[in-house]
Amino acid sequence: MSLPGSSFSGGPLPRIVGFSANLQRPSKTRALVEAVAEATGTRLRADIRLFDVVDAGTGLGAAWSRDQLSLPARRILEAIENADALIVGTPVYKGAYTGLFKHLFDFVDPAALVGKPVVLSATGGGARHALVVEHSLRPLFGFFSAQTIPTSVYGSDADFAEGVLVDAGVRARVADAADQLATLLGAWAKPAASFDAAPAAAFAAPSR
Ligand SMILES: Cc1cc2nc3c(=O)[nH]c(=O)nc-3n(C[C@H](O)[C@H](O)[C@H](O)COP(=O)(O)O)c2cc1C
Repeated sequence: MSLPGSSFSGGPLPRIVGFSANLQRPSKTRALVEAVAEATGTRLRADIRLFDVVDAGTGLGAAWSRDQLSLPARRILEAIENADALIVGTPVYKGAYTGLFKHLFDFVDPAALVGKPVVLSATGGGARHALVVEHSLRPLFGFFSAQTIPTSVYGSDADFAEGVLVDAGVRARVADAADQLATLLGAWAKPAASFDAAPAAAFAAPSR
């Protein structure tokens, strides 16, 4: 899905890609990434696309090199590399990002994310591992010389009700992160008309 509209401050819309490392659906992590994407879409006209590991399928974990990636996994990788900004999320597994989250970013061109804004988010069973965003995710995107957004977002089981993010404190951090992302992307425009998430199969590789 992309938001309607053909211009952004006289140019193309910024492309924001959300990637969540959830292995199941429904997913709290995907819901959190969607919440950030939706909040960003109300602040900034943008082409926003969302993917998760379920979209990538087993062709992600089975690949030992970029050439071995399945088409759905490769399209997600290319979308990440060609994005103007990222919203990433991972469930906490054993105190860190999941193996498949790291596996996908191991294939990303080291130069592809330089200077790009990245919102960091994660979910865990409880609050104990809330700092995983700081000690796992932020150093990873530091490697890429990405511009990580100051406010990261973490949600635990108790912050969701029937798959929806309900905790006011976490929702405030979502809003703060969206504000910061929109500011970094450098322009404020009319609120977006709609927001929608598309499966990887519906996504054509970016042309620029
Ligand atoms: C293999 C595995 C390891 C996990 N390790 C942790 C952990 O170390 N800390 C934690 O808070 N939650 C842990 N959890 C719980 C998940 O992080 C939590 O349920 C998460 O919100 C699931 O996200 P999802 O709904 O997007 O799949 C673990 C879950 C699994 C399956």
